[in-house]
Amino acid sequence: MRILGIETTCDETAAAVVERTSTGEGRILSNVVLSQVSEHAAYGGVVPEIAARAHVEALDHIIVNAMAEAGCSFNAIDGIAAAAGPGLIGGVIVGLTTAKAIALVREKPLIAVNHLEAHALTARLTDSVAFPYCLFLASGGHTQIVAVRGVGNYVRLGTTVDDAIGEAFDKTAKLLGLGYPGGPLVENEAKSGNPARFALPRPMLGKPNADFSLSGLKTALRLEAEKIAPISDQDVRDLCASFQQAVVDVVADRLRAGLKLFREHCGNPTALVAAGGVAANGAIRKVLHRLSFEGGTLLVVPPAALCTDNGAMIAWAGAERLALGLVDTLDTPPHARWPLSDLVGRPAPARKAV
Ligand code: KG4
Ligand code: ZN
Repeated sequence: MRILGIETTCDETAAAVVERTSTGEGRILSNVVLSQVSEHAAYGGVVPEIAARAHVEALDHIIVNAMAEAGCSFNAIDGIAAAAGPGLIGGVIVGLTTAKAIALVREKPLIAVNHLEAHALTARLTDSVAFPYCLFLASGGHTQIVAVRGVGNYVRLGTTVDDAIGEAFDKTAKLLGLGYPGGPLVENEAKSGNPARFALPRPMLGKPNADFSLSGLKTALRLEAEKIAPISDQDVRDLCASFQQAVVDVVADRLRAGLKLFREHCGNPTALVAAGGVAANGAIRKVLHRLSFEGGTLLVVPPAALCTDNGAMIAWAGAERLALGLVDTLDTPPHARWPLSDLVGRPAPARKAV
């Protein structure tokens, strides 16, 4: 089957066509992503109203491009999938409404995809990973450890009680005047910094749950920077290195706790899977390798372009759902909040999705 996927929950306008074989293998026929980073950079973060307007302007063209690149007409598409949340509600409405219009006019099933489920299932598109596996999802909006037991079957083992990891990187970059998005900039500065210079806290270390907390770390960093103001270029490098080292230590400890909880709930995972923009960080990747080696668990990190927000992950999640007969009606609402634990593998409705 072939699915068109649409992603508009944050600051990427994206559409893709993905094929799923009857045996469950995936193939990306096109994957078009337009980043709005330059439109938000001046504000040091995503401005929801600017994002929603930019999605309206770009989405039609992005869909046309995705269809053309895939070399396929709407007749050859078996379903239209859109991210129905969680995310910035203005953008979600743009993508979901567009998908509904196409589904209605072309008489195709609509699949309203949970954005987090799409991140969670990407490793099955890229690496055909079997259930159950342990997902570490770390982006600008989310930090979660999830037991992925099946489509629509997730147990959240840990989450952040305040900031997401990507958000903490972005706030650190803003504080140090580095720009946006902050993750790659902080990582770059950290390369020539001293990670031991500043004694920053490691929140949640040793706690038996698998939760994260990042806001104390961010505050501690600000206080250290204020103590030595005005800060030099080397101070910035050392602050970045010390911050990144603290995050790495926290990720290692929290994932160890998460994998332990996983084994208690679901037995051995088939793999440890990383997703989200933070998975692009080299120091975090290194610690993921160490953990998978320690536990004898396969590590799967999809290519960076599929770890960050994209249309192919939405199309794939749509394909996995449609293959199980899980479709949605045209009155499906958009969601600003939509925890994975609310998802179920629902039975197929008896009537057509109109
Ligand atoms: O998944 P993503 O592209 O978008 C969502 O937030 O959904 O993730 C973006 C986040 C940003 O906060 C960015 O600073 C962070 O991922 N990020 C990184 C790196 N590259 C991107 N964080 C740390 N190190 C990186 N190399
Ligand atoms: Zn995302």
